[in-house]
Amino acid sequence: MKKVTNKTLVLSSEDVQEIVRKKGLDEVMDALIERLTAAVSSFNPDKTDIPARSGFNYESPKVGLIEWMPLYNKGKDVVIKVVGYHPENPAKEGLPTIVSTVSSYDTSTGHLKGIIDGVLPTALRTGASSALASRLLARPDASILGLIGCGAQSITQLHALSRVFNIKKVLIYDIDENTIKSFDTRRLSFLPDVDIVAASIGDILENSDIICTATSIDVGAGPLFNGQATKPHLHINAVGSDFPGKIEIPVEHLRKSFVCPDFLSQAVIEGECQQLQKHEIGADWVVISKTPSQYKHVKDKLSVFDSTGWALEDQVVMDLFLEYAQELELGQYIQIESMSEDAKNPYAFLQAMPEEILVLKEIIYNQKKD
Ligand SMILES: NC(=O)c1ccc[n+]([C@@H]2O[C@H](COP(=O)([O-])OP(=O)(O)OC[C@H]3O[C@@H](n4cnc5c(N)ncnc54)[C@H](O)[C@@H]3O)[C@@H](O)[C@H]2O)c1
Repeated sequence: MKKVTNKTLVLSSEDVQEIVRKKGLDEVMDALIERLTAAVSSFNPDKTDIPARSGFNYESPKVGLIEWMPLYNKGKDVVIKVVGYHPENPAKEGLPTIVSTVSSYDTSTGHLKGIIDGVLPTALRTGASSALASRLLARPDASILGLIGCGAQSITQLHALSRVFNIKKVLIYDIDENTIKSFDTRRLSFLPDVDIVAASIGDILENSDIICTATSIDVGAGPLFNGQATKPHLHINAVGSDFPGKIEIPVEHLRKSFVCPDFLSQAVIEGECQQLQKHEIGADWVVISKTPSQYKHVKDKLSVFDSTGWALEDQVVMDLFLEYAQELELGQYIQIESMSEDAKNPYAFLQAMPEEILVLKEIIYNQKKD
């Protein structure tokens, strides 16, 4: 019987962080934006099947949800992100609100090929997605960025947008004073020289060219603002609305804007699009990426990218990190799944005996024969 080994590549948080240190934060973000741009613009639903995500939400022991986001790359692999959203984590547990892992499975055998940290990759890909959407829908000379909600995602929103636009000033607002105070320190590692100014939501709306909303606003507590004046070309990346009843942008503003969902069938259930009728929703980012010249005029108008989070983004970021891991020889191959020596006997491992016992057994057998 042949000894079967079918190892899984495990990329821990340390490996993912080491990759970013070795490759460089800007280089990783730039690569991700370019990979995502290519993946979205070449997306073909006949080749890649992405159902809307599903999950469990609960009130106890704490308010939260755990969801699974699947993707079937036909003939190749299945990628599934399992993601938890627990907004009390930072204050009560010292943990991020979003905790996740991404795994990929071999569709010829079902084998778990790889599993990687999903926390940093999710933040990176969510930033990269807003950068891509803003490149499609915002004015290229946008220089004032507003951030409403200054938690973990806001960091990668700022980083990613700063790679695509010449950001000169950042206006920030969060309901939590300490989060506003710590923002300046948190951006030092990637954007030390840009002006960061605490502002009201009204000031942010009035003065920004692009706004990213990434709040953990409660279900039923939105929107974040009502009917304030904005620049005529304001582009909003609405990142925080990703659950039924959880919204950030008022429906009046959505109706005045070109609304681009990342994933229409999901956005109408849990994104800003849940507030709109089908005919009020614009083309999704796949359509716009394939025919950008047809949507150039939107750059001078109000627009909203309804970012609910799409499994394609997770596949792109996982593939990138797995490639980096191979190049840098990082990560660990671990035999996680039981691969019995006898495929039809899951107990075969109990029959494996030490060499000495086998020799003894043979001697006794031979003596009996004699
Ligand atoms: N679209 C996507 O792909 C995607 C990906 C990851 C996270 N998210 C969503 O983004 C949001 C932020 O995630 P995070 O990881 O940054 O969480 P976080 O807890 O680190 O930050 C959220 C921040 O929002 C602030 N906040 C809450 N209510 C507010 C309000 N009414 N006004 C202003 N600020 C408010 C909180 O004080 C906190 O600082 C979450 O809703 C999450 O579900 C979306």
